Parts: sequence; C-alpha cells; structure tokens
Amino acid sequence: MAQDDILKKIIAHSKEYGFIFQSSEIYDGLSAVYDYGQHGSELKNNIKRYWWDSMVKLNENIVGIDSAIFMHPTVWKASGHVGAFSDPLIDNKDSKKRYRADVLIEEYMAKIENKIQKEVDKAEKKFGDTFDEEQFKKTNPRVLANQEKIEAIRTRFVSALEKDDLAELKKIIEDLEIACPVSGSKNWTDVRQFNLMFETKLGSVSEDANSIYLRPETAQGIFVNYLNVQKSGRMKIPFGIAQIGKAFRNEIVARQFIFRMREFEQMEMQFFVRPGEEMEWFKLWKETRIKWHKALGASEKKYRFHDHDKLAHYANAATDIEFDFPMGFKEVEGIHSRTDFDLSQHQEFSGKKIQYFDPETNQSYVPYVIETSIGLDRMFLTILSNAYTEEVIEKEGGKKEERVVLKIPAELAPVKLAILPLLRKDALPEKAREILNDLKYDVNCIYEEKDSIGKRYRRQDAIGTPYCITVDHQTIEDNTVTLRNRDTMEQERIPVEKVREIVIAKTSINNLLKKG
Ligand code: GAP
Repeated sequence: MAQDDILKKIIAHSKEYGFIFQSSEIYDGLSAVYDYGQHGSELKNNIKRYWWDSMVKLNENIVGIDSAIFMHPTVWKASGHVGAFSDPLIDNKDSKKRYRADVLIEEYMAKIENKIQKEVDKAEKKFGDTFDEEQFKKTNPRVLANQEKIEAIRTRFVSALEKDDLAELKKIIEDLEIACPVSGSKNWTDVRQFNLMFETKLGSVSEDANSIYLRPETAQGIFVNYLNVQKSGRMKIPFGIAQIGKAFRNEIVARQFIFRMREFEQMEMQFFVRPGEEMEWFKLWKETRIKWHKALGASEKKYRFHDHDKLAHYANAATDIEFDFPMGFKEVEGIHSRTDFDLSQHQEFSGKKIQYFDPETNQSYVPYVIETSIGLDRMFLTILSNAYTEEVIEKEGGKKEERVVLKIPAELAPVKLAILPLLRKDALPEKAREILNDLKYDVNCIYEEKDSIGKRYRRQDAIGTPYCITVDHQTIEDNTVTLRNRDTMEQERIPVEKVREIVIAKTSINNLLKKG
C-alpha cells in the first residue's frame, strides 16, 4: 500500500473509532489543531503514564512538576525564543502556498535517500542471506553517486543555516530545481524568518495589557523552577525534573496530521549534571530513551538516531530519535546536551543567583543540562502507524473476511477488556454486568451487547482491545467465559475468577517499565 494511503487510512480510522477529530470540525475545522476522542484520550493518558512512571516512579533522583503555560515575558528573551525562535519561510508565487525553506531541502535529500534504500532493498532480495549491506553501499556506483549528491547538498545547507544566510537557502532551492508540489512552478519569493511564538495580552484593559506568549516548549517552566525544586526537594546533582504539558507553535507548514500541530503536548525531562560530565550522561540518556521506545515491540528497523549536523549555539551534542512513520523517517524525540546555557541566561536576566553548591567538590557552579524532549502527539502517531493492520482471515468453510485491527501494545490499549453477553436475553446481560461491576475498579472495561458477536469482535479489533470475554449460557451454569485474544483470535474457556489476573498480567504498564 502506498505510504500516503496508509496515512489517509489512519486518519479516517482515527475519526471513525473515536481516537482523533479535527478541532471545531462542525465549523470546517481549524488547521493543524486536533481533539482527542474517547479512545484517543485513553491511549494518550496511557502513553503519558508510561513516560511519567519511567522517569519519575523508577528514578529516585527525578521528580515531576506541572508549571503554568503563561510565563513572564522576559523568560522568552532569556531563552532566546524572542530573538531566534523562527523558521525560514518561502512562498510559491503561483500557488500562494507557504513552505519552510529548510524542509523543502530536507525533503529533497530524503528523496535521494529513498532511492538509495530502494537499491539496497532490491539487492537484498537478489542476494538473500549472503547480502552485506555495508559492503554494497560502499561499492555500488549508483549508491555512491547519490550519497555524494546528498553530502554536497548537506554541506551547503548546513553552512547556510549556520550563517543564517537566507539568500543562499533560496539559491539552493533554485539550484536543485525544487518545484512547488501544488503548482509545479519554481517561481519562489525570497526566504524570510518567521517567529513561531503565539502572542497574547495579559490584563483586562488592552492599553495596560502586557504582551505575553503561549509557551513554545515546556522546558523553560523547568529551568525557572530549578532553584525551587532543588531546594524544596533537597535534590543532589545529578537529578532530573520532568514535566508533561501543552506547547504552542505557529507552524508555517502544518501538515501530516498530528505530526506537526500548532497546539501539542511535550514530555520533557531536564537532567542537571556536573559540568564536564555531560557527555557521559548524554550517552546514557540516549541508551535509556531508545530502550523505552523499543520496549513497545515495533521492529528494530523502525528506529534510528539522527545526530545533528548543525548544533544550536547552546548545545554541545544533539541527536534525534527518528521513527519510520508512513511518511518516512522523522523525529519523534530530541536528546540535547544544552550546557549551562539556559540556567546562565535566567541567572543573568533575572539577576538571581542560580548555582549549585556541590558538597563533593566543594565548588559552586551552574549545572549543565541533558534534555530529553518527546512530542506526545508524535508518539501517539508512532503507536497508531505501527498498530494499524489490515488482515485477511480465513473463516470456517474457506470463507475469507477482512479485518482492520489496531495492534496497540496491550499495556497502552485504551480499553483492556470488552465484556460481551452472547445474547440480550436469558439473564446473560445481567451476568455480564455483574462481571463488569466487579472488574471495573482494576481494569478499563467496555460493555457491549448490540450486534452479532462477530461484529462486536471486529469493533473491538478496530479499537485495539486486547481481550474480549463472551458471557454465554454455560457461564450461567459453571461461571466460565470465553476469553478471546485480539492478535491470535484464539479463544479459551476460563473461570470468571481468573479474568482479572490474566488481563492485568498482560496489560499492566509495569510490563513495559520492566523491559526498559
Ligand atoms: N525543549 C526542546 C524542544 O522543544 P524540539 O525539537 O523543538 O525541542 C521536541 O521539540 C519534540 O516536540 C519534538 O521531537 C517533537 O516530537 C515535538 N514537537 C515539536 N514541534 C511539534 C509540533 N509542531 N507538533 C507536534 N509535535 C511537535
């Protein structure tokens, strides 16, 4: 299936089954803003729980906070966002469509990378087990020529970004003959910088009101609370502060569903360390975070690190964890070694001393910071894109049937157990509700009695419910039910008293935490 089609199917499925809706849809929607429905918000909460527990519950030296979205305007001067939180934009004069100049160039490079991957896949098919990918890439002339092309573009691109040379960015687009995907024309405006922060007014009378910003990242709420948390929690370096919360960016190009939104959620953790030790911690957090992702069971091939070519002025190391989305490999999480930049800036702009006295070295210093920053919505999209499966199943008598199943890791599934009376009579609904009322304190259950049992199974498959139990006449006689597994579709007869234990054992978030 074409990659574009998969994304379209995921979008349609998300709407049909209550995961994600376009914001204000009855008013024709608001671009790049989405609402999470009844199953979407459960899944989102489970992802948050997995992240939060992996940070705060499992680490004695990491604590969590919840800071306000509105912050003093000087915060954003100190952090550099007022001066430099911008993207280079370019308009196509014919289609009047606006693009990020850097993204146009990156997408061009990604297309060449895809060509290389196609060559590799073709050769792998041809040579089978004897295929040596590394050797092939080093020797195949077409691959080498394409790699050279990418390197040449990258060198120019990185240099233009480093020098903030907007004219050169335009020149690269022209030289590569990049055309507007809508009009097909190469008639571009100059490249301009565009600040991504949303501005609003604080105060009731507009003349007296102060301009403030909706935070574009949650991290600054952590930095400005560093002293509060360190002192009130008597935290000793190394220690971390974690936070989950909304962030807002006026993205120029907001496409690809929940991948790039104007209102989104971040899960960020700032880890404060002794200066000079940051590279060890950077390495450790890289390993820890990739393990966290891989515990979810997607193929190893779906993840890769992308080390930054161009480091932000405050960073001395940076990498992205990329996931193979339906639109290709893209960033889901950033891990940055941010030096002492943020705390030093806040120290300077606030005039408050932000230092740590280290009893082991008898020295005071501004701590260095390793940041792990993951977009909750992007994480959601990795789960959905990995889970969405279309299957043809063989029924009795050789009949074939299609099913769409969301193979969401059972630990994150929005609903863990569906309780289904076989018929709406013979006291089966009453018995099913009795089981529901007993289990609902421990397990997120759903009760459904409408439609045939086959249709109800399909519906639960589409939501990603890992287990269904069916209450039938035998249940009334011997207190047993059939337990159906979403992925294998196998059914087994078990005593009602066993349901809780089995479902909790398979769906507890602790399973994931123990793998990490
Ligand atoms: N504090 C560091 C920071 O904010 P970032 O790379 O700009 O770094 C971190 O953002 C993560 O937030 C990204 O890896 C991505 O998952 C998510 N993110 C950023 N912009 C987003 C957007 N417009 N929509 C959805 N997620 C976004």
